[in-house]
Formats: sequence, structure tokens, C-alpha cells
Amino acid sequence: MARNKIIVLKNGMDVFGNKIEILINGEIIEKVSENIDESRFENNENARIVDIEGKLVMPGVIDVHTHMREPGITYKEDFATGSRACAKAGVTTFYDMPNTIPATTTLENLLEKKKLAREKSIVNFGFHFGGSKNDNVEEIERVLTSGESNTVKIFMNVTTGEMLIEDDEILKNVFENAKLVLVHAEHEMIDKAIELNKNYGKGLYVCHIPSADELKKVINAKKNNKLNTKEHPVYAEVTPHHLFLNTEIRESTERNRMLLRMKPELREKSDNEFLWEAINRGEIDTIGTDHAPHLISEKLEKITFGMPGVETSLALMINAFNEGKISLEMIQKLMCENPAKIMKIEKRGKIQEGYFADIIAIDTQKEWIVGIDDTIESKCGWTPYENWKLRGKNAMTIVNGEIVYENGKINENVKSGKEVEFCD
Ligand code: NCD
Ligand code: ZN
Ligand code: ZN
Ligand code: ZN
Repeated sequence: MARNKIIVLKNGMDVFGNKIEILINGEIIEKVSENIDESRFENNENARIVDIEGKLVMPGVIDVHTHMREPGITYKEDFATGSRACAKAGVTTFYDMPNTIPATTTLENLLEKKKLAREKSIVNFGFHFGGSKNDNVEEIERVLTSGESNTVKIFMNVTTGEMLIEDDEILKNVFENAKLVLVHAEHEMIDKAIELNKNYGKGLYVCHIPSADELKKVINAKKNNKLNTKEHPVYAEVTPHHLFLNTEIRESTERNRMLLRMKPELREKSDNEFLWEAINRGEIDTIGTDHAPHLISEKLEKITFGMPGVETSLALMINAFNEGKISLEMIQKLMCENPAKIMKIEKRGKIQEGYFADIIAIDTQKEWIVGIDDTIESKCGWTPYENWKLRGKNAMTIVNGEIVYENGKINENVKSGKEVEFCD
């Protein structure tokens, strides 16, 4: 009988600064403690003892906002290249958005997309179903009852893709028939989404909130016990680019003026600061990258909304920790624990016995220059943070008990990514 692969991670440190060791049996975390006796595995050729030498151990990052461009737009990204970018940077699970070609607005399209991801992705994946401007409430019902997805994404402002919903009746139907609704909503559309959630919805997740102005709307709703209830909760997502970039950086060079364009657009430095303060007050639920790759030629030719993000999100946040802007505990909440909780992902997002072994080991002191000292795995081939000097870099990525990235290299022999499952 084939025996499970065993991995013992020795000498890690958790986000609280405590020593942590982990015994992985097959795809599951079997034991977590301060000291795991590895001697009983000495003669087991299926076992590997890995000394991670004091590195920071966290659950793998769960990025619930990415655009992997498959099917239909795969010259920008696909599930293979996008998931390699994730694996390298410490993202063990991504959620793909529905604005592909065709859009993920029918059950059939969702199943087709899943098939492609299963064939290609080296990390775990989940899918947000899409609300259509042509009213696809029946498809939403089919998807939710079949359990193929438990979330619906809608676009309430113009952005990349052809999915803008302007009809109030359709918006209402989506909120009535969906469970958690993720929205691209800017300015007044945020008020509208909060109202729809209160009157008809079962949960609202506001994507990529860019500014103090817009974030205040969401924070006020979160604090209001009529707008934010157990029956229809409100969640807030911010992106790394709205934390680290602003119009000043964008306007500083001709090139940045073209590259640093996305929806919602970058705002002022004071908005960056307000977002950071909100994070540290505990008012933000998640960091999602809005990984939205476009080729650099497309970006330079005409204003094109979206930028890549999965390859830099964790490193930027660890660098922010090194600069005293955020605690490691908060990073783990925003990037691992809360995404799993909000999307109701089964047995991921925490390092806990019985959970899937999605684990990363981070060298928090490693200094490196983005785009220079590292590869770019995303098919788009560029990053908005090129030449940024960061301290902190992912060193090892384990997905379902398999080491997919270590020593600066993606392990070409494993493909252990699986589709997420839901707790209810
Ligand atoms: C995204 C894209 O390119 O798919 N673009 C963007 O500017 N953020 C779409 C989106 O998330 O709005
Ligand atoms: Zn958007
Ligand atoms: Zn109510
Ligand atoms: Zn997006």
C-alpha cells in the first residue's frame, strides 16, 4: 500500500513570534506544536524533514480577487502562468473573476472554466460567478443550488469587460437571489449597493475600495446595526495598489501615467494614509490584489484599466511590516484567515490540525529588488513595482502538502492545486 508523503517543518516562527513546527501527512496538517520529534521518520523514505531556520510560517495567502483571463483572453494570462505567479509569491489559493470571454454568467461557462483550471493550475482555485446585464438570475440559482459557486460578482461601474449592470430591476434580482454579492462599486454606487444589500441581500463584499471618501461609506455601513447584520453582512476589501500607489507616483513619469491605470483609479497620498489607518483600526476585512494583467504594449498604447498584483502583494505587506506600518498578525488576518471565513472556504486559511496543508515560509529580512532579483511569472511580463527595494520575500510554498516552490524555483514536477470546497 502506498504510504502518505510526510513533511516535517522544523524551526519556524509564527506571526506572534512563537516557535512553530508542523507535521504534514499527505495533504493534511496532522500536528502543530512547538516541537515535533522527527526521529520516528528517520527511516521513512516518504518523509522529508525541512529545517526552515526561523522563517515566518503563515497559512498560504488566499487572494479572492484575481482576473486570470482564461478562457478567451489568454494572451494576457492563463491558469498556468497566473498560478505560477501565485505559487512563487506565497498565494496558495486564488479566486477568479467572471469577466472573461465568454463571461462566467452561465453554469455551463463556469464548468468549462473549472475544467481549464483543473488542468493547469498549480495552486488552489475558486470562482466567483458573474451577474449579467442580460439578467441571468436563473443561472445564478442553478449555480448556487448545485454548489458550484457560492458568490456572485457584479459590476456597477464601467471597467474592463462587458459586464456593467445598469438596470435596477436586475440589480435587485441579483441581490434577492444570490448569497454573498461582490461588487465593483465606486462613489454613489457604493451607497446603492449597501441599500440593495439591506433591502434584498444576504451579504455584500465591496471590492477594491480606493479612497477615504468611499471607505467611510463602507465603514459607516459596517458600524450600523441595521445595514450590517448577520443576515446581510458588509465586508471591505482594499488592494495593495490603493495602499502603496497614488496620483503623485502615477504622474511622476510619462510611463507611469500609462501603466498605473486601473478602476477604481489611484487617489491621493492622504487616501493611502486613511486606508492604512482603517486597516490598523480593524475596519478592513481583506486584502485582494485585483490582479488584472494586461500586456505592457496594450498599457502604453492607450489607457487600459488593470495591473498585475499576485506576485507582489505579500512581499509589499511584509515590507510594510518591516517599516512598522502593520503587524504580522493583521497581515495573516487580512490575507489568509478572513478571506477563508468570508467565502466560507472549507479547511483553509489557518494552520490548524485537520486543515489542508497550504503553508508558506517567509524570509522577513531578505532584501531584494522587484523585477530585478526575481522572475516575473505572470504572462503580462511586468509589474508596477519594478525596481522597488523590498525587505521580505516568500521562500517556500506548500499546496495541499506538496512543496510547489522552494529555493527560488517552482517545482515543475508537482501540480497539487485543487478547487476550494465550501463549509455550508
Ligand atoms: C479589471 C480587469 O482588467 O479585469 N480592471 C481594473 O481596472 N480593475 C476589472 C475590475 O476589477 O474592475
Ligand atoms: Zn473592479
Ligand atoms: Zn435587516
Ligand atoms: Zn477586479
